[in-house]
Amino acid sequence: MSRLDDCYNVFDLRDAAKRRLPRAVFEFVDRSTEDEVALRNNRAAFERIKLRHRSLVDVSGRTTKTTLFGKEIALPMAIAPTGAAGLCWHEGELELAKAAAKAKIPFTLATGAMTNMEKIAREANFRLWFQLYVWKQRDLSYGLIERAKNAGFEALIVTTDTIVPPNREYNARNGFNIPFKPNMRFTFDIMRKPEWFINVLVKYLTTIGMPRNENYPPEYQRALRSDPRMHDVMRQDNLNWEDVKIFRDKWPGILMLKGINRVDDALKAASLGVDGIVVSNHGGRNMDSAAATIDMLPEIAQAAGDKITVLLDSGIRRGSDIVKAVALGAKCVLTGRATLYGTAVGGEAGAAKAVGIIKTEMDKTMAYTGCNGVDEISTDIFFGDRERNTMVGA
Ligand SMILES: Cc1cc2nc3c(=O)[nH]c(=O)nc-3n(C[C@H](O)[C@H](O)[C@H](O)COP(=O)(O)O)c2cc1C
Repeated sequence: MSRLDDCYNVFDLRDAAKRRLPRAVFEFVDRSTEDEVALRNNRAAFERIKLRHRSLVDVSGRTTKTTLFGKEIALPMAIAPTGAAGLCWHEGELELAKAAAKAKIPFTLATGAMTNMEKIAREANFRLWFQLYVWKQRDLSYGLIERAKNAGFEALIVTTDTIVPPNREYNARNGFNIPFKPNMRFTFDIMRKPEWFINVLVKYLTTIGMPRNENYPPEYQRALRSDPRMHDVMRQDNLNWEDVKIFRDKWPGILMLKGINRVDDALKAASLGVDGIVVSNHGGRNMDSAAATIDMLPEIAQAAGDKITVLLDSGIRRGSDIVKAVALGAKCVLTGRATLYGTAVGGEAGAAKAVGIIKTEMDKTMAYTGCNGVDEISTDIFFGDRERNTMVGA
């Protein structure tokens, strides 16, 4: 029996990932920032929303399929950009992308990925999105955009919520750095996980050397983020709406902004011709006082109307979470950790398992609430006054 057979939900996959990964890598994936309030609150906000069964509706013909930016996907879910997939599994980004392509959902490659973007485009091309962290030296970022365009990526997602490095204190304690420069504690940590060492680290060491940000310009690929030169490169606290205009000019495909939390920002994005926004608090990884995205979604989706497509992430662990997000106006959700845990346990098969679990849960929730199609999902399936159920302090 494979490890995956013992996993019945995303939380089982998390436990299995914890057993397999070195502590520093697991904590980088799993934890968030400071006191981890936002991380907990993302889940609590989903859990506070209660649904009602609808009885005696024929739902035998139901489907989770939906249309996003004019094309069909198997369910309203996409893979979020996560710079760490390549540490969960050798070339983990490729494994995730293959699972996404087979499941017919979009995959987003992060700027910090450890797999070459052209390789992903060659080997796993269903709907590929590229996530951009904007560097101080804008020319370097424009170069990445050009590469993504040439490689055939369908969408560009500019992340707007990570303009300064977050306080992830555990990374400092664990000696976690990309590319690796293990300290004593990290080396001891790795020695306790020989399977990961052989199947992940050794595979990199015998091919490209230490795992690194494979799509960075060559001069920065080998530099540590803690290297003072990198501080300057990584700086993005001058990112502003003028940049968005330039990205709109340079990117003919679908353009999205990730990390939009306010109605005025959503409307501004729409006015500049941005196609989509992701209501996101980065999975609670950046600002610990960030509100839960599912609590912020209704007013943003309502104001956005059909001016801009609204997506959501942060806290999705169950298929019922997708139903709740769709009911409140999201056209699609993105999963970060849920699918990373799967990748850490079984590469492509593990990622596919995570997607399959979430899809089945979504299908069952649709059946219980009497929805035959995604367009039938609305707040009509909610119990009680949503505001009272979900506001902080309820
Ligand atoms: C390990 C890890 C690495 C991430 N790296 C990036 C990144 O490079 N760029 C980005 O825009 N978001 C990144 N994110 C945030 C995700 O794209 C997404 O917003 C978040 O994971 C959603 O929350 P969830 O993990 O609860 O699903 C990362 C998240 C995790 C867990």
